[in-house]
Amino acid sequence: MQFQVNAAQLQNELDKLATYSDVPSPAVTRIVYSDADLAARRYVKQLCRDARLEVREDAAGNTFARWIGDAPGLPAIGTGSHIDAIPNAGMYDGTVGVLGGLEAIRALQRAGFRPRRSIELLIFTAEEPTRFGIGCPGSRLLAGLLGESDGTRLRDSQGRTLDELRTAAGFSGPLSSVALVPGCYAGFVELHIEQGPLLERAGIPCGIVTHIAAPASLNITIEGEGGHAGGVLMPGRHDAFCAAAELALAVEAAAKSTGAIDTVATIGICEVFPGAVNSIPSRVRLTLDVRDTEAARRDSVLSSIRKASESIAENRGVRIQSDLVNSDAPAACDARLIETLSRACEAQGLSYQRMVSRAYHDSLFMARLAPVAMIFIPCRAGVSHRPDEYASPRAIANGVRVLAETLAELSAG
Ligand code: GLV
Ligand code: MN
Ligand code: MN
Repeated sequence: MQFQVNAAQLQNELDKLATYSDVPSPAVTRIVYSDADLAARRYVKQLCRDARLEVREDAAGNTFARWIGDAPGLPAIGTGSHIDAIPNAGMYDGTVGVLGGLEAIRALQRAGFRPRRSIELLIFTAEEPTRFGIGCPGSRLLAGLLGESDGTRLRDSQGRTLDELRTAAGFSGPLSSVALVPGCYAGFVELHIEQGPLLERAGIPCGIVTHIAAPASLNITIEGEGGHAGGVLMPGRHDAFCAAAELALAVEAAAKSTGAIDTVATIGICEVFPGAVNSIPSRVRLTLDVRDTEAARRDSVLSSIRKASESIAENRGVRIQSDLVNSDAPAACDARLIETLSRACEAQGLSYQRMVSRAYHDSLFMARLAPVAMIFIPCRAGVSHRPDEYASPRAIANGVRVLAETLAELSAG
């Protein structure tokens, strides 16, 4: 259908949203429930109200902005993403799906379109695992995968619970009230930057996601023996950091050993105690993130890592404890929605390719509630989770056009 995307306004809004950050530009750090996050939420909610959307928030702060359709009793069509950002991130991860989703709605409004089904923009609380150590707590709650007891179980690095933090941020009520019933959305479509190099390399403006890889993560603690960096001789050491270094290489080897490009493993946090120049590390805390499009292959990597850690512990005389944080199933995007997206690309004169998402997204958990699909747009050199993350206004506008076309078709159905 005919509509105009206002790429300049959308870029201004993305730029403005990036200013709500705890670090200087171009880096963005916006941790869930921080002052920066709450200010960013206020900004986005005002934009939604300016577009005459009806805004509501749940007990975790998931935000829903609804364009009420002519048949408001029918399951709605959802779109959206997240606005939290990991430490030292860029300004496009998640935000393109939120502000781009809003612009898709406004473009349809300007064109005089009337939806039959309501169209709802979702801003998920914390896609990123930064604060609570687990990704997507907001959409996990919506899908009923977390509940009341997780409000006190999930804590940040300073020991503050999810319940304390959400209440301080103004989100109250039982966490059990967050879960939605399957079928509440007739479809959910998320627009996101690719976070990989394939689209740019191929010169293709749109990716249509077929599967979202299965993530797993663990907290690992290595207990060795501390001591004086000068006094303790090398043969008598049980250096926790040396054990961690060996484990890190074992993780890399285990991921590479599958021979599949879809297997990836990362140790992203390494905290060394006591953390003094002249003190042998007595304890190390690591986080391990392992993903694969095939859950069984991911689990075999996890079991190789477990075996490696047992032998490292024995050889080095240290204790290694691993606690599983999450181990999720992969999600398949819905065949009918993939077809709808393909037609939308064609209608907009844009070429596309089908692809998997190795990054996770809230769509992984929305897939428990509704048929889902995702549109990827290229980002420069595939860079993401870095301050130099970049997607051009044209690339973003292409994604918004495909999203608007898709929302129009789905909301008429
Ligand atoms: C999301 O940011 C992810 O880590 O895939
Ligand atoms: Mn991210
Ligand atoms: Mn994201």
